[in-house]
Amino acid sequence: MTSLAEFKQAPHKLLVIPGPIEVADEVLYANAHPSMSHVSPDFVPVFGDCLRMTRHVVSARRAPLSNFASEKSSCPRKVAANLVQPGENALVLHSGYFGDSFTECLETYGAKVDQLKAEIGAAVSQEAIESALKAKKYRIVTFTHVDTSTAVLSDAKAIAATVKRVSPDTLVILDGVCSVASEELRMDAWGIDVVLTASQKGLGVPPGLSILVASPKAIKVFESRTAPVGSYYASWKKWLPIMRAYESGKPAYFATPPVNLIYAYHASLTTITKKAPLLEERFQLHRAASQQIKDTAAALGLKQLALNPAFAATGMTALYFPAGVTAADVLPKLGAKGIIAAGGLHAAIKDTYFRIGHMGITAVDETRGDIQRVTTALNEVFAAK
Ligand SMILES: Cc1ncc(COP(=O)(O)O)c(C=O)c1O
Repeated sequence: MTSLAEFKQAPHKLLVIPGPIEVADEVLYANAHPSMSHVSPDFVPVFGDCLRMTRHVVSARRAPLSNFASEKSSCPRKVAANLVQPGENALVLHSGYFGDSFTECLETYGAKVDQLKAEIGAAVSQEAIESALKAKKYRIVTFTHVDTSTAVLSDAKAIAATVKRVSPDTLVILDGVCSVASEELRMDAWGIDVVLTASQKGLGVPPGLSILVASPKAIKVFESRTAPVGSYYASWKKWLPIMRAYESGKPAYFATPPVNLIYAYHASLTTITKKAPLLEERFQLHRAASQQIKDTAAALGLKQLALNPAFAATGMTALYFPAGVTAADVLPKLGAKGIIAAGGLHAAIKDTYFRIGHMGITAVDETRGDIQRVTTALNEVFAAK
């Protein structure tokens, strides 16, 4: 294997879809680690460190479970299978496509789901959450911190506070796939019970890891369930002892973890939690990058989906096309300038907008010049319209 100093990924177009994102050389290099036994004394502490650093990223010092899937699967399944028993009520706060996928997943495991749907470009209001919680007892409330289909940010702190005040037994579940490591998130301080996420966005790793952090309260709810868990591979009964073993420096086996991706995850988490810029500064750099993209778009007359700045994510931006312009007019032109952006995803308005991701190294490593490249390309493509 060449050394890290010699390793450089092949030239490629700049990937600024809202995940997967650009991955740093040292992370790809770590992924190319020679194959290792998942129970070797060299690998066990790497896995243990990942569990500890994951908690650091979501500000959850006490949460006992961080869990990496050994199979590629969407994270909501782990919540649906473990925390909701068939026939129990779940409330899904819907701010875009991923509210629907969470709903479908919960229903697959037998939950009775009510959705509170925000208008496109907004998050569900605290008043609506309060009245839903007063009308019915829910085991869990789920929300998408940043819905990748709309770039709408939900106010995690306010949602958790409303749930704790109105229905303190209800668990607060945050889908952080498009927010962890790019949006401010304080799991312990805000009272979030489960954060679920994945490797391919703000965490800056190739796709393949689905990651979950659960609070002591969520674990208690899991342990007190009476119905058997309706999934073999996603069961916390299987995974909790494994994670506890790795964290205490001992190997254990239930299913083979994705060893090389965990090396890559370790490299990225080490950068995020132990090197400059540290987490707080990273959030600040994401805000600055986001502002540059949003200011450029505004100057070009492009309207965001987010109805006001309070609903606007900092890790991505969703922009309506001007009248008469379509994805076919824009995305190939950006592509020809070396910029890969994404089309729309929200079914109701899919063809009317496009999305740009600005997470991870694209936002925090200013020496790369990624944000400048994107704003220049936007200016050139839309000025010609
Ligand atoms: C907000 C959100 N939740 C859940 C998912 C599902 O994650 P995955 O595709 O890794 O299963 C995604 C994927 O983009 C997402 O953006």
